[in-house]
Amino acid sequence: MLEEKIKKSESLEELEKVRIELFGKKGALASEFAKLKDVPGPEKKAFAEGLNRNKANLQKIFDEYYEKLKKEEIDKLLQAEAIDVSLYGDLDTKGALHPVMETMDKIIDYFVSLNFAIEDGPKIEDDFHNFEALNLPKNHPAREMQDTFFCKDGAVLRTHTSPVQIRTMLQQKPPIRMIAPGAVFRKDYDITHTPMFHQVEGLVVGGKGEVNFANLKSIMSDFLHYMFGDVEVRFRPSFFPFTEPSAEVDISCIFCEGDGCRVCSHTGWLEVLGCGIVDSNVFDAVEYKDVSGYAFGLGVERFAMLLHKIPDLRMLFEGDTRLLEQFR
Ligand code: PHE
Repeated sequence: MLEEKIKKSESLEELEKVRIELFGKKGALASEFAKLKDVPGPEKKAFAEGLNRNKANLQKIFDEYYEKLKKEEIDKLLQAEAIDVSLYGDLDTKGALHPVMETMDKIIDYFVSLNFAIEDGPKIEDDFHNFEALNLPKNHPAREMQDTFFCKDGAVLRTHTSPVQIRTMLQQKPPIRMIAPGAVFRKDYDITHTPMFHQVEGLVVGGKGEVNFANLKSIMSDFLHYMFGDVEVRFRPSFFPFTEPSAEVDISCIFCEGDGCRVCSHTGWLEVLGCGIVDSNVFDAVEYKDVSGYAFGLGVERFAMLLHKIPDLRMLFEGDTRLLEQFR
């Protein structure tokens, strides 16, 4: 009967009341023990033993039931407070890479997979690294090509990533296989130019006769197919002070597939990068002897514009969420 009382409790709180009723000073067991004084002498011992056994038995049942209830209550609490981490949250707040950075990553992935190292240099450059060592002596007319921002004391905002070629060659011995991604600056602003944009520079230097134009041509073609898929690639003779011979590389227009449209100025071709065989004057400036090399440079925004068919380069930097949301 007393045992049933214990097992009828549905919570620890109820069980506590039962505990007092059974085991308390004025509880059921206490009143059983009170009867001991009326038991005649010879039977006292057996009676007391019976009471103790009974008490121990009840205590055991009580303790076990207490543990059971306690476990159930903890389980209930855990269930009530559980958080389902697999539930969908508010996905709208998730950001995304800016299309320029996404394009940059794609370009970097290509060259890293071919074991090119990534090099870095300062954005505020000196005349030596940005011009002089790249075969652009003072008063050289080609300096005009660069629309330079001048800082104090003859420093400039780097107009291209080519100074990183010089820094890397001054710090390392050949062979070299590097790219240098980063921001560059030019005094220019229209639908295809912004005063800050990004380039990826490339430089490969090996022993004399080891690096040639055929190597350059094949890697540039492969790279452009990786970026733009099934396009035609054409090398056009050009001029850069730091390469000789130099070429500009075009792909067949991805908008009109070569038929001629506004984007390609009805030529059917889009210019996408500059490259060439490193001029011996550049190797002289970094005191490299008996070497050969090629270099290339490209504008990341131009690639992003073409890949995503963005009509005005300035849109990439206006921070208009209507454009950016399309790149989630
Ligand atoms: N530095 C050149 C530019 O900014 C690009 C280039 C790099 C061309 C390396 C040839 C070789 O226009």
